[in-house]
Amino acid sequence: MIRINENFTKLKASYLFSDIAKRVTAFQQANPQKSIIRLGIGDVTEPLPPVCIEALHKATDEMAQRSTFKGYGPEQGYAFLREAIAQHDYAARGCKIEADEIFVSDGSKCDCGNIQEIFSTDIRLAIPDPVYPVYVDTNVMAGRTGGNVDGRYAGVTYLDSTPANGYVPAIPSVATDLIYLCFPNNPTGAVATKAQLAAWVAYAKKNQAIILFDSAYEAYIRDPAIPHSIYEIEGARDVAIEFRSFSKTAGFTGTRCAYTVIPKSLMAYDAAGKAHPVHALWNRRHTTKFNGVAYPIQKAAAAIFTDAGKKQVKDMTDFYLGNAALIRAAVTKLGFTCIGGDNAPYIWVNTGRDSWEFFDLLLTKAGVVCTPGAGFGKCGEGHVRISAFNSRENVVAALERIAATLK
Ligand code: MLT
Repeated sequence: MIRINENFTKLKASYLFSDIAKRVTAFQQANPQKSIIRLGIGDVTEPLPPVCIEALHKATDEMAQRSTFKGYGPEQGYAFLREAIAQHDYAARGCKIEADEIFVSDGSKCDCGNIQEIFSTDIRLAIPDPVYPVYVDTNVMAGRTGGNVDGRYAGVTYLDSTPANGYVPAIPSVATDLIYLCFPNNPTGAVATKAQLAAWVAYAKKNQAIILFDSAYEAYIRDPAIPHSIYEIEGARDVAIEFRSFSKTAGFTGTRCAYTVIPKSLMAYDAAGKAHPVHALWNRRHTTKFNGVAYPIQKAAAAIFTDAGKKQVKDMTDFYLGNAALIRAAVTKLGFTCIGGDNAPYIWVNTGRDSWEFFDLLLTKAGVVCTPGAGFGKCGEGHVRISAFNSRENVVAALERIAATLK
């Protein structure tokens, strides 16, 4: 008899953003005349930067000629892209990351979700709350947690992000082995200082633990004192893996390109205490299960590292940050406190009300989709996340409708 992986039965019936999409579709079907503005899922709306389009066209033409056609590429990514990343995203910020420590992939969601596979199922997890649900759900699927009791999985050390700690969690008092951190944070938009990240690196070192650092939103950092990479912290090469994405940086949510950095000095241990390089484990996994990102897509991604590409990316992220500033101002005027939006494309609003009820109110009365905080974890209750990814016109209209609804 074929049997299921029963860990899947511990999960909520559907993934947060699928659940929201279902509710929005049901509402739209019941109210076809109602216009709906989506500030829920963080999906970009601006077209790809012109340098990327140009590179895509050129690379497509190469695929049309026998002499320049490409079949399978290196699973880890083409050297031209890995070298550009190492130079522009790392060396330029004083971080020592070699091109062959970079694994190009089709998305950070997949990488964040898949990475846990190379670690033992009986390790101790530290996971923020609220959190990007992928970190939790993939560990539940793998059997690293107990059941869900009152909104939390047994066996996980939750790192609470609350108004009291400025939404930057404190170091836990207990030892853990695998720590998920995301800065600029999804969903809160909070950022971590160098000192705060240095404390996490010291904690990981002390516990022979690994930090999984998701910096998919680093292109939105404007405060020069805030680190863009965990590798800006001394010693992080020995304890951290970093995930980066072209999705929010350059509008690649539908184009798909990202990368994961695994320094060669990063070790994990077997039951006998013998050290194994994580780079080799991930390389083994990646080459077995992944066949590389399409050549034209990698060419498009590499184009953002040209001078023109850097300017176009800055203009695009500035545009979304302009939306974010409008959202912050409008929700503050309505009397709510909020964070995020200054170094991140998300605004985390403390409504003090049931977050699904607030979501329903905005959807049904204002025709605006946000993301209920409770969907990101217990500490998200009483909050909603508003995304800055939309046209200026739609953001302005959404804010007018929200103000009219809440007046
Ligand atoms: C979000 O809205 O949290 C993101 O779009 C999710 C993702 O990047 O997968």
